[in-house]
Amino acid sequence: MTDLATRDALEVPRLDVAAVRADFPILARQVHGRPLVYLDNAATSQTPRQVIEVFDDYYGRYNANIHRGLHTLADEATAAYEGTRETVRAFLGAAETREIVFTRGTTEAINLVAGAWGRANLKAGDEVLISRLEHHSNIVPWQLLSRELGFAIKVIPVDERGVLDLDAYARLFTERTRLVAVNHVSNAFGTVNPVREMARIAHEHGARILVDGAQAAPHQRVDVRDIDADFYAFSGHKVYGPTGAGVLYGKASLLEAMPPWQGGGEMIATVSFEHETTFADIPHKFEAGTPAVAEVIALGAALRWVSGVGLEAIGAWEAQLLARATERVSRIDGLRILGTAPDKAGVLSFVVDGAHSQDIGLLIDQLGVAIRTGHHCAQPLLHHFGVDATCRASFAAYNTLEEVDLFAEALERVISMVR
Ligand code: ALA
Repeated sequence: MTDLATRDALEVPRLDVAAVRADFPILARQVHGRPLVYLDNAATSQTPRQVIEVFDDYYGRYNANIHRGLHTLADEATAAYEGTRETVRAFLGAAETREIVFTRGTTEAINLVAGAWGRANLKAGDEVLISRLEHHSNIVPWQLLSRELGFAIKVIPVDERGVLDLDAYARLFTERTRLVAVNHVSNAFGTVNPVREMARIAHEHGARILVDGAQAAPHQRVDVRDIDADFYAFSGHKVYGPTGAGVLYGKASLLEAMPPWQGGGEMIATVSFEHETTFADIPHKFEAGTPAVAEVIALGAALRWVSGVGLEAIGAWEAQLLARATERVSRIDGLRILGTAPDKAGVLSFVVDGAHSQDIGLLIDQLGVAIRTGHHCAQPLLHHFGVDATCRASFAAYNTLEEVDLFAEALERVISMVR
């Protein structure tokens, strides 16, 4: 009989870290005369050459505006751009390509949902549930709209580990609850939220659910139909792709019923001063103006790269990195980890008695280690835990156990300098 460990080892494909690293030219650089140890992946992941090469190829061979021209270059650019919609559809497990809207990133995707769905569906007296774990990009668009429309925002609480309180969540619903806005994975603490269960509860109450998947898409397989998300957003630059390209998934029936968000070229059917202007079908109704063509095509290359390596293998490897990092930093006197959820992605947030996070970030950079310090655009969460800032190390497929050790040693050295 196979024991559990052996069975897991058999079922989870192994990740060849050396092969993965070889795809990332930036990992060969030095910072302050030391090898770069890049642990700021939750902010932006690095980019493999398969993605970088798209830009050379696109601008060197077939740069053209899409959907507009009849010439060869326009056809090729349009085919590559629209082909990426199918890559994204498959990546998210969506039913149809018309459910995939390209945006600049997660923030723009959420603003689109607020500006189009929210403005059409929310009114004074309604309620929107937002989790305490949210990034500002899933709080502020709703606050801005609430000022305008007068609906109430209710906060889903977290426990001392940074885990959402599901019982409290279920109790927050009333007959006025219209929307739940929640991240799949917390950027500040790494908590993986039970979004499938949260969607089930939301739907039982007739509410919609928007999932911010910016921190989930790089680390685990996402299936929007299994989650039953009404909207799901993620960013290219956190999933080994470029900045400036991201995705909003929306159920076709919702996108179809939504009014346009931004007006301009490409989102119309007909424009007239005499008659009502009419709009294009989804998803083009939500893609006004010339999009980030090269970036979207490069996002497709990034998703193919991630799928080639395998999200199960990436997730399992990052869990090992996180476990080693957690074990190493836990030995440091006066260090407190924030976010100790049992189900956690590769994010390690911590504060150290007698050492300011900003000082740690600056000094550890001198040793070649890149981490993020600050409020991580999650001030309500950090304030709830009584801090203004933390240090955050976040892991990606190309990080190694040796890098984790270098980070821990550098951290110990820096702390001894500032205390
Ligand atoms: N949302 C990004 C982060 O968590 C910028 O660092």
